[in-house]
Amino acid sequence: MQFDTVIRGGKLVTASETTQADIAIRGERIAAIGKDLARGAAHGANILDARGRYVLPAGIDVHVHLALPFCGTVSADDYDSGTRAAACGGVTTVIDFAIPYGEETLQQGLDNWRAKAAGKACVDYTFHMAITKWDRHHKEIRKIFEQGIPTFKQFMIYEKEGWQADDAAIFAALEALKDLGGLLLVHAESSRVLDLLIARHHTPAEMKKHGAWLHVVTRPNFIEAEAIERVIRWTRETGGRAFIVHMSTGEGADLVKWAQATGVDILAETCVQYLTLDDRVFKQPDGRLFATCPQLKKPADVRRLWQGVRDGEVCNISTDTCTFTRKQKDLWKGDWTKIPMGMPGLETLMPAAYTDGVLKKRLTVNEFVNKLSTAPAKIMGLYPQKGSLAIGTDADLTVIHPTSKRRVDWKKMQTHCDWNPYQGRELAGFAEHTFCRGRQIVRDYAFVGANGWGRFVGRDHVGRA
Ligand code: URP
Ligand code: ZN
Ligand code: ZN
Repeated sequence: MQFDTVIRGGKLVTASETTQADIAIRGERIAAIGKDLARGAAHGANILDARGRYVLPAGIDVHVHLALPFCGTVSADDYDSGTRAAACGGVTTVIDFAIPYGEETLQQGLDNWRAKAAGKACVDYTFHMAITKWDRHHKEIRKIFEQGIPTFKQFMIYEKEGWQADDAAIFAALEALKDLGGLLLVHAESSRVLDLLIARHHTPAEMKKHGAWLHVVTRPNFIEAEAIERVIRWTRETGGRAFIVHMSTGEGADLVKWAQATGVDILAETCVQYLTLDDRVFKQPDGRLFATCPQLKKPADVRRLWQGVRDGEVCNISTDTCTFTRKQKDLWKGDWTKIPMGMPGLETLMPAAYTDGVLKKRLTVNEFVNKLSTAPAKIMGLYPQKGSLAIGTDADLTVIHPTSKRRVDWKKMQTHCDWNPYQGRELAGFAEHTFCRGRQIVRDYAFVGANGWGRFVGRDHVGRA
């Protein structure tokens, strides 16, 4: 065998075991796992010493928004900076949301997103298709499915953006996707009560007094929990399959656990920020920067969500990357309802989850691999091509040091942002080396990939973790 790359002597970590071995790559795939593989290396092959390192299946972030027109601006990380950030964070597959605008068809929305990525992406990508106008869009679901997109999304909020789906649309989408074997992702927040609470507090006096803290005041936990309850109900009644995106509350985790125990086919992800940050940031002078939707919650929610990650009701950890710079965040001018909502995340997903998860002994390193790579690959229909360390699968790998930490500094990062939610924090788990389909795209913590290497990955099914 003429191997192109041999990664020697690392600890290979999968979702189920850790073993010490070499791993060899030929072309885009893992070609061998075993001892002394350098003997089979081609002349001039890339031989990497990984002794004392973990070699993992690379991360899969199933929830990102790159170059998203949103909140009156466009999210600052596009398929160039966003996928470079992914690479340096050890992530080699991202799933973005293709969202039709205005009166666009699903096909137009999908084509638009494919054009954003083509020639720019440095890591592999695929899409969930957002259904924003059920009456017209439902006719296109099968056609989109046939183009490699079995996962669809509806938003229970964002009326002003023109994205909101009502209960009937969600019910009908669950039925339709059940027939096709697809998965419905739902942004679950209770919009009418949320609107009422926002209107109550939207006064000059309150905004002057409380600033960005009003984001917390107007989104008590029941706003998410009530909406999740409705999704559970519609999922139970239709016999469909739902996936709650960016679950942020302990109440949500309780509900999902109960629903799963009673046979409802519902899944829930959380995002790394809900596991590593809490709403006290909104008391800081720069609190507005952390506005995201749903917002960060209390330390008790953080604890409950970690429990959910361990016990299983939280199936994976993603980012909801939706980057906005300081200048964009400053559009708020003191009014929290105008803050572009979202944060950078791809570059720090694996490090923050590793540091607060594995190093703080909330997760084993195998559970970490499962929640960041294997489980999302299985659920989203990417496994075993992605999310595994097995011969014949895509050589998507990240090599990390088990304990060595790096200080987060937005000035040294790939993400197109002039602040970072973890600024100054010491995190382990940054990618020392990353491989995407056999090509090394990070070497010694530096990006060495190229635009256009990332490829669209079509999917023909969804699966189970
Ligand atoms: O704040 C966020 N999450 N921005 C992106 C849109 C969404 O709801 O996921
Ligand atoms: Zn959302
Ligand atoms: Zn999102």
